Amino acid sequence: MLGEGNPLAEIFFVGEAPGAQEDATGRPFVGRAGELLSRIIKAMGYSRDEVYIGNVLKCRPPGNRTPTEEEQRACFPYLKRQIEVIKPKVLVALGRVAAVNLTGQRATLSSMRGRVHYFGEIPVVVTYHPSFLLQRGEPKELKKLVWEDMKLVLRVVHGEIQKI
Ligand code: URA
Repeated sequence: MLGEGNPLAEIFFVGEAPGAQEDATGRPFVGRAGELLSRIIKAMGYSRDEVYIGNVLKCRPPGNRTPTEEEQRACFPYLKRQIEVIKPKVLVALGRVAAVNLTGQRATLSSMRGRVHYFGEIPVVVTYHPSFLLQRGEPKELKKLVWEDMKLVLRVVHGEIQKI
C-alpha cells in the first residue's frame, strides 16, 4: 500500500506503517487512528481528498510491532520517490518513526516538535502519531500540542515561514 490523496497535494502526512484495517483495505489511515487524522485534517480546513496520506512502511509489520531499521531502510526509497513526485509544500511526520526518517535526527519526538525541519528543500513539521493520542485517551494537553503543530503546518503552507 503506497498511499492515497491528491497527487498535487500541498500537505503530505507521513505515518509509520499500515495497521490491520489498512492492510485489509489497501488504504492508509482508515482505522481509529485514521478517523482521528481525518478530524485533524478537517479542523485544518482540508478534506482527505485534498491532502496526501502515506506511510514510511508499505506493509504491516507482524503484530503491529515498530518497524525494524532494516524494514525502514528497505521502504525509504519508495517514500523518497513519493515525495519527489508529489512535491508538497510541507511534510507532516506523524510519530517518531516518520520523524526520524524525514529529519534524519534520532531525537525524541517532543524535542523535534515546534520547529521546521527540512527534507532536502521540503519543510517538515513533526507531531504526535494519532495512535499515541488514542492510547492516552486524547487528553486536552496533547490535543493542544498537536493543534499547535498543525498551525505551524498551515503557516508553512501559507508561506509565512522562510528557510534560513
Ligand atoms: N498508523 C499508521 O502509521 N499508518 C496507517 O496507515 C494507519 C495507522
